[in-house]
Amino acid sequence: MQLNAPLDMHLHLRDGEMLTRIAKYSAETFSGAIIMPNLVPPVTTKEEVIAYRQRIIQAIGGKTFIPYMTLFFHPSFNKTFLNALRHDITAIKLYPAGITTNSEEGVNGFDIEELRPVLEAMSELEIPLCVHGETNGFVMDREAEFVHIYEKLATAFPKLKIIMEHITTKESVEALDRFDNLYATITLHHLLITLDDVAGGMLQPHLFCKPIAKRPEDREALLNVALRAHPKVMFGSDSAPHPKHAKESCGCAAGIFTAPIALQLLTELFEQHDSLHTLQAFISDNARHIYNIKATPKKIILEKKPFQIPPDYEGVVPMFANKTITYSIKRVIHL
Ligand code: DOR
Ligand code: ZN
Repeated sequence: MQLNAPLDMHLHLRDGEMLTRIAKYSAETFSGAIIMPNLVPPVTTKEEVIAYRQRIIQAIGGKTFIPYMTLFFHPSFNKTFLNALRHDITAIKLYPAGITTNSEEGVNGFDIEELRPVLEAMSELEIPLCVHGETNGFVMDREAEFVHIYEKLATAFPKLKIIMEHITTKESVEALDRFDNLYATITLHHLLITLDDVAGGMLQPHLFCKPIAKRPEDREALLNVALRAHPKVMFGSDSAPHPKHAKESCGCAAGIFTAPIALQLLTELFEQHDSLHTLQAFISDNARHIYNIKATPKKIILEKKPFQIPPDYEGVVPMFANKTITYSIKRVIHL
């Protein structure tokens, strides 16, 4: 099996020592990734985006990998400010305040009129809007409740590309086809697990993330669009490393680390569903069309050979640690 220029359209690379430790796991096998801006403090200025990009480039040490940078949405942005950094970013990420890890500086209340000037400017400058779409309602209902906000946004700003990040519900899948300007990323873990895997038996902290994995019928709806590589969906791992002690503790941090195993597990999954022929579109081609980006050429050769997932990658426990899966990375060809 061969994949060309895999792209991860939703990735947390962190900063400092964690960035140095984990960046290579994405840079080795992916051609590029949309880099999430939820650092502490969040990435909100041109100077911060440029400096963070430099730190990423340094951390990946010569590997061919493009970090597509994002800015952390703030209602105080204006068109002059955005115009000045238009070429330093690929998108802007909007978080409702407090909804997930490091999102305290996000948007409060979600008043579309308050956000209108920024969203209009983004629309005119053709800057896509990536959204963490959850309300602060009951945890299983948060994403479904947010769909009406997606609908309002999509209607009010028809030229704005809106990416529903890491969708987990059939309601979000259904919204995709109702609005031309709605797109979505789908993670690996939400294609593989449901809430049962997280909390149905003994609690599994390494499967705990936001949005939480949902019901079997939601997973089915996600699988349905991913496996046929619906042109409006693309892969975004939401790989979100936390140190082992922050996961295996009382008050477990949300986030699942999948970067080093994503391609192998996606290949296994698509093969199980007789869909290997659509994986290239899901892992790269759709994203390139949606974002209108060119990806650095890179060829990943996978082989059907058992691979035992390590217990940890430099202190970060991956999803399915110690499990044996059916595909391995054989070779990476830099073109
Ligand atoms: O589980 C999550 N972890 N969901 C997010 O939205 C953020 C992420 C993180 O940064 O750890
Ligand atoms: Zn994320």
